[in-house]
Amino acid sequence: MSRETLIDLLYLFSATTFVLALKGLGSPKHARKGNMLAAFGMLVAIVSTFFKYVDGHKLYHVPLMLLGMFIGLIVAVPVARFVKMTAMPQLVAIFNGVGGGAASLVSITEFVHIKSTHPATYVTLEVLLGVLIGTVSFSGSAIAFAKLQELMTGRPITYPGQQVINGIVGLASVVIIVTILVTASEPLLWVLLALAFVLGVIFVLPIGGADVPVLISLLNAFTGLAVAASGFTLGSNLLIVAGTLVGASGILLTRLMSKAMGRSLANVLFSAFGSNVTASGATDRADGRSVRSGTPEDIAILLGFASRVVFVPGYGLAVSQGQHVLRELAEVLEEKGIEVYYGIHPVAGRMPGHMNVLLAEANVPYEQLVEMDEANSELQTADVCLVVGANDTVNPAATDDKTSPIYGMPIIHADLAENVVFLKRSMRPGFAGIENELLYNPKTTLVFGDAKDTLTKMVAAVKAN
Ligand code: TAP
Repeated sequence: MSRETLIDLLYLFSATTFVLALKGLGSPKHARKGNMLAAFGMLVAIVSTFFKYVDGHKLYHVPLMLLGMFIGLIVAVPVARFVKMTAMPQLVAIFNGVGGGAASLVSITEFVHIKSTHPATYVTLEVLLGVLIGTVSFSGSAIAFAKLQELMTGRPITYPGQQVINGIVGLASVVIIVTILVTASEPLLWVLLALAFVLGVIFVLPIGGADVPVLISLLNAFTGLAVAASGFTLGSNLLIVAGTLVGASGILLTRLMSKAMGRSLANVLFSAFGSNVTASGATDRADGRSVRSGTPEDIAILLGFASRVVFVPGYGLAVSQGQHVLRELAEVLEEKGIEVYYGIHPVAGRMPGHMNVLLAEANVPYEQLVEMDEANSELQTADVCLVVGANDTVNPAATDDKTSPIYGMPIIHADLAENVVFLKRSMRPGFAGIENELLYNPKTTLVFGDAKDTLTKMVAAVKAN
């Protein structure tokens, strides 16, 4: 077997691990194995590439490549290991951005190489698409990172004629691409690069910080497409397969997230959602209705009388880092013969799978995690629904109020349970910035305070009862 055939077979093996890894990532139970499998496939692909002959020559600049990999390794490993769970979206944004930037650099290098060795040659479309898409992904991800890291305002940044200006810059990029294809002009490449950079920035500015995870998923799809374009440029089947997988899964995830939020992708990208937040910090509403509040000890007594309890975690659980104490509460309740489930809404938190990752970190058994539809059937016979730092994902306005911005979003029907308990710090709304009628429902009790502190007190009280 020739060296080329062996390397192609190893690439095929890597591509297969990527497909299987995606399957593994589809369930919390197999996600860790899926990730490891993809990492192993990537390792095989990288090592194989070092043994490849390009046009009959060994690879050039091997020490430089190894140095680049080493720098990447010493930066990325500690960052990935020590990143806080709530900072995960910005980590994904920055990793995604450098991926897009790398794909763009590959295309630029190839363009310059073609022009310097064969000046009369025309450049092909995929090289230019690699530059455009990769650069948009790079600069867009950088702005997404800055928003999430609060280096700039997370609110949508809007100005008159914004979408028209964005449209003009997008159109100008297409015109430049066509001109380069016809004239093979090298200076225009740098114009395209600058336009793509600006396009990435202005495309992301009007998107509110809380919609950014959906955007990141879309930019992730862009990076995949840019990588696939680099694959065509370099004649690498593996890059084409890997890039297409990332592109397709990014687009699917973007669609799923928009659907789970009950909004169209166009609404997420162009509506500047979050610019008119109606947050109130008051504990009473203007119309005079008040809420019923309780102490952790009151709730411990209520839980003690229950036979089935459903926990509904949300963004506030991640903020308070109360996942370990929540698992402890489940354990003490189970010891008392009480059934406990965790109802997981697909967009609870601020990133896809946020609650699954959070609860997996606390070693919550997978069997106790139930998805939204199953949670809704469990809730019909539940004595208590304990809503821990969730709000929009249990807001009945999504089904009852046609004028609500979240109308149409599928929710976990916490109100089906006999009693509803909310753990939150104030009357402030969640991400969507709207009131939650369920807080005023007579069957609801609110326990104000940081979720982790409240849960800790509840565990102690349940143990003492
Ligand atoms: P939210 O509706 O955002 O509500 C979070 C709640 O947590 C708030 O009521 C907040 O109230 C409370 N909270 C914050 N810190 C807390 C702490 N330390 N202790 C106790 N409570 C705390 O959360 P959700 O129900 O998870 O919904 C997620 C929202 O994000 C949805 O609207 C969804 O569409 C959106 N979104 C999700 C994603 C993904 S992919 N997950 C992406 C983009 C947008 P207090 O401030 O009063 O404590």
